Amino acid sequence: MKLPARVKMVEVGPRDGLQNEKEIVPAAVKIDLIDRLSGTGLSVVEAGAFVSPKWVPQMADSGEVLAGIARKTGVSYPVLVPNMKGYEAARAAGAHQIAVFGAASETFTQKNINCSIAESLARFEPVAEAAARDGVAVRGYVSCVLGCPYEGAVAPEAVAQVAARLYDMGCGEISLGDTIGTGTPAKAQAMVQAAAVQVPMERLAVHFHDTYGQALANILACLELGVAIVDSSVAGLGGCPYAKGASGNAASEDVLYMLDGLGIETGVDLGKLTDAGRTICGHLGRAPASKVAQALTAKHPTP
Ligand code: HMG
Ligand code: MG
Repeated sequence: MKLPARVKMVEVGPRDGLQNEKEIVPAAVKIDLIDRLSGTGLSVVEAGAFVSPKWVPQMADSGEVLAGIARKTGVSYPVLVPNMKGYEAARAAGAHQIAVFGAASETFTQKNINCSIAESLARFEPVAEAAARDGVAVRGYVSCVLGCPYEGAVAPEAVAQVAARLYDMGCGEISLGDTIGTGTPAKAQAMVQAAAVQVPMERLAVHFHDTYGQALANILACLELGVAIVDSSVAGLGGCPYAKGASGNAASEDVLYMLDGLGIETGVDLGKLTDAGRTICGHLGRAPASKVAQALTAKHPTP
């Protein structure tokens, strides 16, 4: 098995996780979570989303959150931005990294951001141009890469096409999102291979939701192809408000435990990460979904 020596873990819990909570989490709790996460050695902590507060009220306080965090040198705090209005608001709030988010499925794009794929790409163009002018790094998400809640199967070529457009407009990193977590390892590999024809492998990230318990297996399958950027969410928080039934992302603690076990360097401390997950789950009133966090809490033997 040929695996990367180092993996960049992209923590999406404060955004992907908390956007999906029924009860809106107070800004102070989000700030505490982000500061705990940036203290674990993670170099990327997605901090919020500048989207319509009518669509996703959970992210309406992203400006307050960005203003309140203790920014650490070497850590980036990207935020989601769907259009120029979001870009301007994100910049005014002090964002230095952003992410635009499209999808490989027409129906999901309509439900999620109220436009077609072509329209979404046209909205992202001026955002990418402004970001290039302002020296702001842009990540591009492609959702529904292994299935759509409305259309079912999604062709790898459809994913590759959207990924190529995002890359060409200046997204430095393309995150391939299995939004509803239906993917399995061989399909994940075929999809990544199709995307890698258009976008260099080192620019591809994978973003698996764990609805069917396949996230870790899928991540490992993609690492074998050379993917070295992995999105995950502390305590397995997450989902998408416009993808019914989608569960949390791969839990960061579980991803880290696997990477540590494989001897892959991340720079992230498992104990501190587990503490961050326990703390936010304390606020949410439930146990972390991470198996590793559960095992450590139960003081199961460690290797
Ligand atoms: P729209 O209604 O088509 O927008 O929404 P519009 O341009 O017609 O404007 C309508 C209203 O929204 C106006 O306000 C605008 O000012 C306002 P009004 O006049 O009615 O008071 N508006 C905004 N307000 C704040 N920030 C903005 C903004 N833009 C317009 N940026 C829009 C289009 C994209 C805004 C809307 O559909 C939206 O906010 N969608 C959010 C979707 C979302 O956040 N989904 C979750 C994230 S994606 C995800 O989770 C997947 C991912 O994790 C990867 C994976 O797992 O696959 C990334
Ligand atoms: Mg997601």
